[in-house]
Amino acid sequence: MTILCKLNDGDKIWPPPIWLMRQAGRYLPEYNVVRNKAGSFLDLCYKPDYASEVTLQPISRFDLDAAIIFADILLILQNFGMDIKFEEKIGPVLEKPLIEIPVLNDITEVEKSKLVNVGEAINLTRNKLPREKSLIGFCGAPWTVMTYMINGRSKKDLSQSVKWMEDNQSLANDIIDVLVDLSAAYLILQIQAGADIVKIFDSWAGVLNESQFNNWVIKPTSKIIAKVKDVFPKTPIIGFPKGAHQFYEKYALETGLNIIAVDSELDRDYVRNILQKKFIVQGNISPNILLRGGAELKKDIELNINKFRDQPFILGLGHGILRNTPPQHVLDLVQFVRSLS
Ligand code: CP3
Repeated sequence: MTILCKLNDGDKIWPPPIWLMRQAGRYLPEYNVVRNKAGSFLDLCYKPDYASEVTLQPISRFDLDAAIIFADILLILQNFGMDIKFEEKIGPVLEKPLIEIPVLNDITEVEKSKLVNVGEAINLTRNKLPREKSLIGFCGAPWTVMTYMINGRSKKDLSQSVKWMEDNQSLANDIIDVLVDLSAAYLILQIQAGADIVKIFDSWAGVLNESQFNNWVIKPTSKIIAKVKDVFPKTPIIGFPKGAHQFYEKYALETGLNIIAVDSELDRDYVRNILQKKFIVQGNISPNILLRGGAELKKDIELNINKFRDQPFILGLGHGILRNTPPQHVLDLVQFVRSLS
């Protein structure tokens, strides 16, 4: 059994397991070498040899406890016939976002789509990863994926997406239903390929009011989790409703997840007194503090560990590693956590 599965089963593990969101990426020189060889970001995601190689880079360099398969939550847009590109300095760009062309295209099943390449990358990675290390599969949650389908690119202000959802309820619900089915099938494919734990990223969950949160976050996420648990009841599932501070507990209770990932802005006393009473927690060092490193980083790791150490937890970040983070800071983090008694 891998370390995160053991933790989920109730084993006491000390020091806490460590893995970091976006642990593979542009802050690592060896990632940039493979990214350039692959050509585009999408080629990197879809070529199993390359995807597996970059997945393993942070494990070799830092001896982290878990690998997360290198892919992106937006690959699934191609199953809707939506043409996606990742452009330097802009990020994801869709040719025909829903805000311009509000139609549901022909849907391609996961098994007949390029997503099978992610399964192949998982299989290759599992064969190379030390047995005790976990391999995390993932998908985007329907609401977060839809924000990109609607706008066609990253936006800080999501009020237009929310308005689009309210104005186009019937189509929005149809798309959410399809995303539920595809995402569940995709997670199942990843577990079959060798992922021993999966994570659902809802990066934009924090902009919704309660009824929107119930309809677009809790309901679809619960359905995805139920479908995955139907086939793989023992596979731990991590949920990440980033920014949804009022609804974290409700989300954790109602979706059926096993592990709750917490962002850096969530109050640590709330995490300890409410969430840790019932769930394993993952978090929540700030990526900005990791970027700055040094004494401030050590201090924050100490605060984090002292707050969360009485219950099982995974030491991680509140969001992804920032591009300019010196790799040495990640090494410092790992060494410091492992030096604590
Ligand atoms: O190491 C890992 O965490 C695994 C790989 C991973 C990536 N994206 C690789 C990636 C994971 C788990 C994701 C999830 C993802 N993708 C999320 C949810 C988590 C979050 O960050 O909130 C979201 C919202 C996306 C969508 C996405 N992908 C955006 C907005 C961007 C552009 C922004 C950016 O950082 O460039 C991407 C591109 C992307 N996905 C990169 C990486 C390493 C950078 C692209 C590159 O190398 O050129």
